[in-house]
Amino acid sequence: MSAVSAAASSKADRFPDRRLGVLISGRGSNLQALIDAIEDGRLDARIAVVISNRDDAGGLERARRAGIDTLVRDHRGWPSRDEYDSMLAEDLRSRNVGVVCLAGFMRRVGLPLIEAFPAAIVNIHPSLLPAFPGLDAQRQALAHGVRVSGVTVHLVTAELDAGPIIVQRAVQVLEHDTEETLAARILVEEHKAFPEAVQRVLDGAWTLDGRRFVARPQDLRP
Ligand code: GRF
Repeated sequence: MSAVSAAASSKADRFPDRRLGVLISGRGSNLQALIDAIEDGRLDARIAVVISNRDDAGGLERARRAGIDTLVRDHRGWPSRDEYDSMLAEDLRSRNVGVVCLAGFMRRVGLPLIEAFPAAIVNIHPSLLPAFPGLDAQRQALAHGVRVSGVTVHLVTAELDAGPIIVQRAVQVLEHDTEETLAARILVEEHKAFPEAVQRVLDGAWTLDGRRFVARPQDLRP
């Protein structure tokens, strides 16, 4: 059993403090979706810190408005990606974060962070993975002429946008869609999928079966 699957199949009280660390780079609408879900009781968690690699990220203001601690950690000027990631891991660990949420964090995360939070880093991506990983997922979807795209929330592994899938929601691609109109409709589904997926990870009532993120039999209701 790999480190990831061993950690993911451990007990439901793996995250007793239910503390999230949210990493952002931009406007932070998915961060807002987590804040809103916590406020209205759909997500049983608290956000311990919001970290941005850019000081102009709009999401920082959303965090401040909600009374959440923020940190700006510029990725530029570091001798290596690993050193930057090690600092992030320390920032998160020192705040007792259990689950790390990548909410539009436009950086690949490397092993120092992945190994510090095994099976506990969640990413949101605007396509139905494994289709269209990487940048400009909506543009890729339109270029390929797919009729259906959507959103995927998945666990982060060392491979880009390829970890076990937690939640997906589909969105129809319309005849006259532009990148902007498609992105806007996908975003509506992102805001539902993200809190739902984070709640599932926190519940620990899920396990990894190879690449699949599945409910344990004892947690399936009739
Ligand atoms: C979202 O489309 C998300 O899927 C992608 O980056 C975008 C972030 O948007 N990873 P926001 O900053 O959460 O509004």
